[in-house]
Amino acid sequence: MANSSCSPSGIIFAKLWESKRVVKFVAWYQILTFCGSLRSASSNRALLTTVERLAPEGISIRRYEGIAELPHFTPDLDHDTFLPAAVRDLRDQVAAADGLLFAVPEYMHGLPGSFKNALDWMVGCQRFPGKPVALAHVSARHAFLPGQLEEVLKTMAATLVPEAGFNLGLTTNNVDVDLICSNAGHKATIVAALEAFRKSLCPKPQQAEEQPASSTLLRGGYSGPRPK
Ligand SMILES: Cc1cc2nc3c(=O)[nH]c(=O)nc-3n(C[C@H](O)[C@H](O)[C@H](O)COP(=O)(O)O)c2cc1C
Repeated sequence: MANSSCSPSGIIFAKLWESKRVVKFVAWYQILTFCGSLRSASSNRALLTTVERLAPEGISIRRYEGIAELPHFTPDLDHDTFLPAAVRDLRDQVAAADGLLFAVPEYMHGLPGSFKNALDWMVGCQRFPGKPVALAHVSARHAFLPGQLEEVLKTMAATLVPEAGFNLGLTTNNVDVDLICSNAGHKATIVAALEAFRKSLCPKPQQAEEQPASSTLLRGGYSGPRPK
């Protein structure tokens, strides 16, 4: 189990089956995704866009888009008084997410500098330790990146969720969403990984209870970003 607190920050929906007068509660978990490439035609970005398109019930995908705006990490700025607004926003988004999904290319047998910079700033997020993290890989060629990224995340006290990770094993970076979606195997891999991520966040069975037929379809609501 990746998250023992089992408290989704997402949305609680209830579906009403009028015949059985039963309301089924489904927890929606928010996954925050990070693309480690700033390239406009990035294959990793295409992968994350595909993830958004294929997200099953119970998962809400939100993309963090601020990597290029983050200042270079320095402990001098890592202080409440001086913390740059972009870093505060990063930490707020990480804190509010139930899980993180990273899609990162390999540069020079290592992590892209801009993405590592974002990770360095995440260290100061009080809600990062224990945060469930999954790794999505698009390339078959990255021999060093997966191990290095896992090592960094373990050092940051992330909770890695291996069953929610996957590698499409592509040999080209000239890919887009339609190309990925045209392959049934890729689609199945992505959906299965997302299902595994959702289950790891809250393995409890869905609750069901008797409700009058007049019960509202939507119960509860989006709780909004949690405080850090
Ligand atoms: C400066 C540079 C260094 C790279 N170093 C590696 C490397 O060490 N190993 C590797 O497998 N690919 C390497 N690549 C290839 C990228 O990982 C590949 O182009 C990847 O698809 C980039 O991600 P993107 O498509 O999301 O932009 C490098 C590319 C660049 C531009």
